[in-house]
Amino acid sequence: MDRKQIINDPQTGNKGEAFEAYDDIPANPNLQRTIGDVIAARYGRRELLKGILGVSATTALFGATALSAPRPSAAAVSPEQGRYNFAELQWGNDETHHVADGYDADILLRWGDPITADAPEFDVMNQSAEAQLKQFGYNNDYVGFVPLNEEGSRGLLCVNHEYTNEEVMFPGLGRQDRADFAGMTRELVDTEMAAHGGSVVEIARGNDGKWQVVRDGKMNRRISPLHTEMTIDGPAAGHPRMQTSADPTGTRVIGTLNNCAGGMTPWGTWLMAEENFHGYFWTDKLDEDGKPDLSEQPEAEQMKRYGAPGRWYAWGKYHDRFNIDKEPNELNRFGWVVEVDPRNPDATPVKHTALGRFRHEGAETTVSSSGRLVVYMGDDARFDYQYKYVSDGVVSEDPAANARLLSEGTLYVARFDEDGSLTWLPLVHGEGPLTAENGFASQADVLIDTRLAADALGATPMDRPEDAQPRGDGTAYVMLTNNTRREADQVDAANPRAESSFGHIIEIKEAGGDHAATHGHWSILVKCGDPALAEVGAEWNPETSENGWFGSPDNCAFDAEGRLWVSTDQGSGWGKTGKSDGLYGVETEGELRGHSKLFFRCPVGGELCGPYFTPDNETLFLAVQHPGTDGTKALKGFERASTFEDPATRWPDFDPKMPPRPSVVVVTRQGGGKIAV
Ligand code: FEO
Ligand code: CA
Ligand code: CA
Repeated sequence: MDRKQIINDPQTGNKGEAFEAYDDIPANPNLQRTIGDVIAARYGRRELLKGILGVSATTALFGATALSAPRPSAAAVSPEQGRYNFAELQWGNDETHHVADGYDADILLRWGDPITADAPEFDVMNQSAEAQLKQFGYNNDYVGFVPLNEEGSRGLLCVNHEYTNEEVMFPGLGRQDRADFAGMTRELVDTEMAAHGGSVVEIARGNDGKWQVVRDGKMNRRISPLHTEMTIDGPAAGHPRMQTSADPTGTRVIGTLNNCAGGMTPWGTWLMAEENFHGYFWTDKLDEDGKPDLSEQPEAEQMKRYGAPGRWYAWGKYHDRFNIDKEPNELNRFGWVVEVDPRNPDATPVKHTALGRFRHEGAETTVSSSGRLVVYMGDDARFDYQYKYVSDGVVSEDPAANARLLSEGTLYVARFDEDGSLTWLPLVHGEGPLTAENGFASQADVLIDTRLAADALGATPMDRPEDAQPRGDGTAYVMLTNNTRREADQVDAANPRAESSFGHIIEIKEAGGDHAATHGHWSILVKCGDPALAEVGAEWNPETSENGWFGSPDNCAFDAEGRLWVSTDQGSGWGKTGKSDGLYGVETEGELRGHSKLFFRCPVGGELCGPYFTPDNETLFLAVQHPGTDGTKALKGFERASTFEDPATRWPDFDPKMPPRPSVVVVTRQGGGKIAV
């Protein structure tokens, strides 16, 4: 497909795009004091406005990133060169998925697949909450894997189900958030709720090398916002702002939602990050512009800073706890990181308030050189922040001690200075501006209002921090997906492009290689987008081919070889590149630093989540989220929004009676062996 033939229509899209469009919260106060001003003083306002800062200043300051150059042919870097040994996939966008030659990409789990012994078979025309609670949920995002034997041939897949797209999920309904949810019933709402949350599913690898679901696995379970009771722990547990009529203790909550990326701990538990929680809350009180009227809400300032209530689902019409007019504190009980023990189906998941409350994208862990647990976490909104959490105690063989590591520790927010230095600012009550005089009466207030506390500390407003992945050597990579609302006078060294449609990746090097350090350095690994278009201002290694560059990095992972893999979510903006979302191997070292190669790509309208490599590096799990929905007006020949009856693709079943189904894909090497080695 010729990119020039593709129409880019920002009105196209689904719930994900809707969340993004609605991400129009009142100005982050730190935008008034952007370090772009400092840069402008140093490099001159004219240079800044000409847009050359991104190249000249960054290169002058940080050196290593290669500048864009004429594109070499697709075969410029052979499979044997660099650290990723595979023949690069051809870019494109069509109705199905594609993987590099020599690999199989098989469907492992689809929305609706039975995952318990007593689960009914999926009946898309007769869905119910009861059935869905025994079936694989919707919109798989994070994927983790816990080996159950030494060979790694059995294990538990831990999968987040971020959100639902009612227009392609239910027959005869269409898009509801634009129709005031007229078609939504209690039954449909409950089915949506049952399709959110997570799944634990045992899988096993047969003699043929293929993975299969173990349907009667004793640890298989669904977690949902409809039925899963959770404990709240940490400094905000029990605080009056966490108490509701259903839970006067402020320590118990039903469920988790909008679980986007996540992480696994060194002791084998699963972290589910609650991202766009604001969208699930309702109010009946709207102002003349149709926006929530918060004039009677005591916590109106906090609600505005979090963009709540979003009214993106009708749950609050049928469940009072999601209506802030009736139960305002329920809002404070979402936006956290949840820990689940996948090996114990009876264990109660825990919401850890010590890790802060924001639109948590991911929660990837590592162990510092002093043995402490460190969790890197992004707050995915325009002009929001990058965080990390450092435990007080050290990771050990003692499960009881490990269980406290996410309860007792320090949360930090990042300030990226223009000289390439990085400072982690502690969010600790009583330190600096985080005092009662400034509205933070306790550590519970600091954590419930993490965004406001980070504002007060002067953190650096970023271009939508998505997943961040640490490596054991004190390095971490931060995916900054895009920010089309950053204006020319708001650019800074760490967010160097105005109206950034394609995002960039920042590399962090913690001082002394210690992930617990409070200082470090940063540089830009790549600036995304088409390097052949000068106005885009992309920066890749010059050997990167037409297939290899990408836009909007989102999820990322290291494989067992310590290589970085990045998956993309361009949302409805994929028409700007013409490329479907995919998985890329991105070089971080040596002469090829900043070089990227395409390994896998999604069917049209899907974003690519996961990725997760098994410890033996022989299996890669990928999650194709919302296939057939995003930006389908840009698909030549289709050019309309998808519905249940009329979707842009029916991946992966291609059954005329079945809509597209979000699915986990398992990638293995034909004939066996490690991936890309
Ligand atoms: Fe759910 Fe920020 O992606
Ligand atoms: Ca994401
Ligand atoms: Ca990740």
